[in-house]
Amino acid sequence: MISKKMQEAINAQINAEMWSAYLYLSMSMDAADKGFAGSAHWFARQFSEEQEHAEKLAKYLQSQSAKVLLAPIAAVKTQWASVKEMFAETLEHEQKVTAMIHELCKLAQTESDFATANMLQWFVNEQVEEEETARGILGAFEMVEGEKAGTYLLDQKLGAR
Ligand code: FEO
Repeated sequence: MISKKMQEAINAQINAEMWSAYLYLSMSMDAADKGFAGSAHWFARQFSEEQEHAEKLAKYLQSQSAKVLLAPIAAVKTQWASVKEMFAETLEHEQKVTAMIHELCKLAQTESDFATANMLQWFVNEQVEEEETARGILGAFEMVEGEKAGTYLLDQKLGAR
């Protein structure tokens, strides 16, 4: 059994993961509108991944006989100046998510909630990967900036995710 406070914090994280999913779906739609089919595919995959994160947390709550409460998902931005800007925002967003996960870890530590702390380790590692990936793609977009052929090839590469 986990504390009421921890239940609420995990439910809030479920909402944050669903908001992330919604954000990346929106980026996918805008990337497709801009003619970046590969990036649109990459963000669609990210949309699915974020839903999996939410599900993982929800299943954990249920395994602890805690109630999953699905709160409304706030609106997201629908347009970006460029695909590069989407990846810059992705990195910024993932850094915020990392901070949220670390807050959950701190709470688990304070409460000597070893089971939750253990479950959260997966998310700690995942965030390292999420940030590294976003940083790498952003760097690649910066490298090919202003070059049509390079941008095209990079978009194609993202389509292979
Ligand atoms: Fe669920 Fe992108 O962190």
